[in-house]
Amino acid sequence: MNFEYAAAPESRSVIKIDPVYGHFINGKWVDGSVHFNTINPATEEVLSSISLGSAADVDAAVKAARSAFDKSWSKLSGRERGKYLFRIARIMQERAREFAVLETLDNGKPIRESRDVDVPLSAAHFFYHAGWADKLEYAGVDTTTAPHGVVGQIIPWNFPLLMLAWKIAPALATGNTVVLKPAETTSLTALLFAQVCQQAGLPDGVVNIVTGDGSTGSAIVNHPGIDKIAFTGSTEVGKLIARAVAPTNKSLTLELGGKGANIVFGDAAIDETVEGIVNGIFFNQGHVCCAGSRLILQESVADEVLEKLKRRMDKIRVGDPLDKNTDLGAINSAEQLAKIRELTAAGEAEGAGRWSANCALPTNGFWFAPTIFTGVTQAHRIAREEIFGPVLSVLTFRTPAEAIEKANNTPFGLSAGIWSEKGSNILWATQQLRAGVIWANTFNKFDPASPFGGYKESGWGREGGRHGLSAYLKGSAK
Ligand code: NAI
Ligand code: MG
Repeated sequence: MNFEYAAAPESRSVIKIDPVYGHFINGKWVDGSVHFNTINPATEEVLSSISLGSAADVDAAVKAARSAFDKSWSKLSGRERGKYLFRIARIMQERAREFAVLETLDNGKPIRESRDVDVPLSAAHFFYHAGWADKLEYAGVDTTTAPHGVVGQIIPWNFPLLMLAWKIAPALATGNTVVLKPAETTSLTALLFAQVCQQAGLPDGVVNIVTGDGSTGSAIVNHPGIDKIAFTGSTEVGKLIARAVAPTNKSLTLELGGKGANIVFGDAAIDETVEGIVNGIFFNQGHVCCAGSRLILQESVADEVLEKLKRRMDKIRVGDPLDKNTDLGAINSAEQLAKIRELTAAGEAEGAGRWSANCALPTNGFWFAPTIFTGVTQAHRIAREEIFGPVLSVLTFRTPAEAIEKANNTPFGLSAGIWSEKGSNILWATQQLRAGVIWANTFNKFDPASPFGGYKESGWGREGGRHGLSAYLKGSAK
């Protein structure tokens, strides 16, 4: 039987988008001299015009952050800082629908995900770090409790509000002030967050939001008044930033790309595993640094898993991200769609077998049908490079040692997944895998208390949990 769903769109009436936005500097809105459009990637509708931050705008934001650090924020007790964080967290919860609708419009992700994942997890990050603000000396981290000062933070477009929360919550809890730049395609929820800071009565200059592109990001990285840089984005830009920061005294954390291995052992519970594979690679259109983008199947179950996976993928609903029944939304930008097309074309040219779900795609906007490649070898580009889209590369193995060897054969080391009914298998594999986060019989689970980060080209440092706090505190070396 085929069930048809009636359209169930979430209302846009809860949000108000201004035609033009300035930067949020020293608690005030400052219009830029050059602007660019931000669009809804599901329709290509222009949503608003955003200011392109110049070096002078960044300089004004850094000065505001320094002055706020010296005059107000560093003088407050942890308990007082915590009150502001609790207040921000509660306002985010109160305005959750606004945040969810705005995120979905600007990013293209399904409302089901922005409403049930991005926004609640963002608030959770503020609640979690609010609790730490007056307990830093008990965190047991290898640092002092002294903040760095002014922190420059640059975030990507895949989880715009959530990455803002991952960055700003620990920075404020530890007593730093912030200059944050959202990604150029997804600035709107960061600008709504600036309004939340005003509503919470946060002292002026503690949080500054400068919008713009890579040139704005580079002005933040190279500004001498910044004490620490925190970046999430591509490995390519991460390397540029590492080079720029190396000769300075700035401290640096990088959260970069990944090519996560999702390993299915022959004894796994297959139906649950299929759901986990779907969640691992098709969540957020596959725009996830820790996505399970390489499925590594034991040969004994490979046919069964693939058959069930394709049957499941044919039922996935692709379309209007504001529709509450939508599973897979729009690709975030024309550039990202071009990159996905380039890499999938390479997969076909190099001889992997392509299967795409049989789904109708909207005519406007940027869309890509969920796709599975079988017969992938380790030499294929689709096994080595981050595609950052709804595309799964499937490899197979016979012995557990072969699975581990394939999983670790990557320049990245961010995430991995293991599917097995045997605890001994899971514990053994966990010890062999070189990945910062390993999920067993689940995938893409996040919690503010759990540190997140990678090895090798996936980055430096951890975010979240007690380990994430230490990145925002000065080293304890005498
Ligand atoms: P990107 O790394 O260029 O952008 C991330 C952020 O860095 C944005 O805010 C951008 O404005 C800023 N930025 C760009 N150039 C900069 C520079 N020279 N200095 C300082 N900041 C700079 O990522 P992009 O181009 O949007 O995506 C390219 C690929 O990167 C994706 O296809 C994906 O594979 C990967 N990516 C990985 C992410 C992750 O979470 N690990 C997030 C976004 C992209
Ligand atoms: Mg870029």
